[in-house]
Amino acid sequence: MSTDRAAGTATGDLAWLGAHAAARLPRTVHLRSSGPLAETVEAEIARLRALADGADGSLHLWDPAAAAQEGSVAGDPVAEVLEQLAGAGEEAFALRADGDRIIVIGTGRGLLYGFYAVVLGQVPASPDRWSRNAPAQPIRMLDHWDNMTVHPVMGQVERGYAGGSLFYEHGELRPDLTRVEHYARLLATIGINRVAINNVNVHAHEATLLTTRLDQVARLAEIFRAQGITVHLAVSFASPILLGGLETSDPLDPGVQRWWRTTAEAVYARIPDFGGFVVKADSEGQPGPFAYGRDHADGANLLARALAPHGGEVFWRAFVYDHHQDWRDRRTDRARAAHDHFAPLDGSFDENVIVQVKHGPMDFQVREPVSPVIGAMPRTRLAVELQVTQEYTGQQKHLCYLAPAWSEILRFPVGGPDSPGSTVAELAAGTAGRPGGVVAVSNVGADEFWTGHPLAQANLFALGRLAWDGQLSAQRILGEWTAATFGPDPLVGEVVHELLAQSWLLYESYTAPLGVGFMVRPGHHYGPDVDGYEYTPWGTYHFADRDGIGVDRTVATGTGFAGLYPEPWASLYESVRTCPDELLLFFHHVPYTHRLHSGKSVIQHIYDSRADGCERVLTLRPRWQQLEGRVPADLHARVTQLLREQERSAQEWRDQLRSYFFRASGIPDENGRPIH
Ligand code: GCU
Repeated sequence: MSTDRAAGTATGDLAWLGAHAAARLPRTVHLRSSGPLAETVEAEIARLRALADGADGSLHLWDPAAAAQEGSVAGDPVAEVLEQLAGAGEEAFALRADGDRIIVIGTGRGLLYGFYAVVLGQVPASPDRWSRNAPAQPIRMLDHWDNMTVHPVMGQVERGYAGGSLFYEHGELRPDLTRVEHYARLLATIGINRVAINNVNVHAHEATLLTTRLDQVARLAEIFRAQGITVHLAVSFASPILLGGLETSDPLDPGVQRWWRTTAEAVYARIPDFGGFVVKADSEGQPGPFAYGRDHADGANLLARALAPHGGEVFWRAFVYDHHQDWRDRRTDRARAAHDHFAPLDGSFDENVIVQVKHGPMDFQVREPVSPVIGAMPRTRLAVELQVTQEYTGQQKHLCYLAPAWSEILRFPVGGPDSPGSTVAELAAGTAGRPGGVVAVSNVGADEFWTGHPLAQANLFALGRLAWDGQLSAQRILGEWTAATFGPDPLVGEVVHELLAQSWLLYESYTAPLGVGFMVRPGHHYGPDVDGYEYTPWGTYHFADRDGIGVDRTVATGTGFAGLYPEPWASLYESVRTCPDELLLFFHHVPYTHRLHSGKSVIQHIYDSRADGCERVLTLRPRWQQLEGRVPADLHARVTQLLREQERSAQEWRDQLRSYFFRASGIPDENGRPIH
């Protein structure tokens, strides 16, 4: 379905950084700053000029020295704002719209971000006042699950729904990286400051990026560096064996330690600003420290000590669980696993280790509670991992704007509603001495629209914006994206909003009921299969039978997972009376006749939400038809084609789930709608 235009495209879609953005750049720009990122700004100005006529007025880009020389703006001394900027870190900028003059003050990344803020129309309406902007999350990173070769099962991009890899083809770096340049630029506009350029499941060929293929990493690092982004590599814990010819990768072995030190030295000799390593260890078959009787802190610190002399960091993933489970065993609970493995290690990770925790305890399902690990490691740097690629949320065939879900996660006070600094966003951001952040799995590929579904670009955009400022509303972000991408046409804004704003809840309504997950086809994870994972070893059960459904994760009678939360959450989730409807089946096994807070029975909820969700999906395509001729024709056609697939698939979800649960429960739909 995806057309591959990665190589040498002249006409490839520019996403939100095309003519509409260019039209916002004031016609006169005065740049008073120097250094590599100021040169980038200069080059970007030239690029945008070629795309559209600019706006009226002038833009002044000053570094602090230039601002100090200026002394004041419209009689208002700049000293105060300069002082605030100095304390806000190198990514901060100040912005002011003064009549038809816009002024940005910043250095390096700060100046670059301020410049892009103007281009994306993020200029505050209140005149004659400085607005200061600094990112909420110090780490704002995208992980690419790209393989260099096409993996026989997972394809070229693992869980990628947007064609091949943007970076690699036929096992090597693409010779023409023009689109990577544009990609880096897009990421900088939304404040992304780090990328990891290969799959966390590191296969033998990709492992060599660390050594014999390091030149290819260096080439990508050069492109990303121009936009203020540092590059990271996913590495295999078994690298000393795979690449170094050693007999062990035991973290306590001096030979292994030496190997990592020497290897890191070689990396930094070639790429002085290299970011560090991403590691998936002892998870889903990847090698790790358990083979040597060591724990995850031993493993992470081994790599951290090799990187430390060069300022590098280790992103050590907490996605560790037993993937050889037995459905009959009701005590082992995959949801507990990350907490059981990692919480006891709090305080034993080196300063340059960031433990990367999936936002939920399972695996990027459409609805999960927040992972209790996020509140359980106060002495560890954390990054919260989100999934932009829509593995379990419609695979970029269904509309599913994820910003509302992410906002909910980031704002959730997992440490308790009354304790300060306890939201996911605050815990992830960390403290000045222990900065953390947000890491997300990218949704782009070589597809001409970058993301397969052109409207899935909104997710990438929103991820960056929310990592920058978790308080921004999902709706406002959607408005920014739509205007930058499609221009000011009000009907386009209205229709895109109608299609996307509620699309996460809509997707949830016809797929996973009440917090139950994994009713998907095993392997590729697309489309319904209620029992697809029910008897497999992956620990992803819903335990539906003729009497009821759901996983008992209570302390009283279940796996005890609910007790891993601080109060009031532990008690709230523990009791079937207080557990929120949308998570009921995540925490409890209940009869089909159980009454929800909504007043409906569980079974009637399953029947109704599927039927209603489907009806709503059928309204989307006619609405989108109204935009024919108002958005690019090829993009319009692609979205139309995908809306057809969403209609087909939503009906399949509706029919399979309604029939399955009718047959299991024997309870008829009280609304009498047909059962398939
Ligand atoms: C999911 C996904 C895998 C991926 C894994 C991970 O389970 O299906 O493809 O490797 O997450 O996050 O490591």
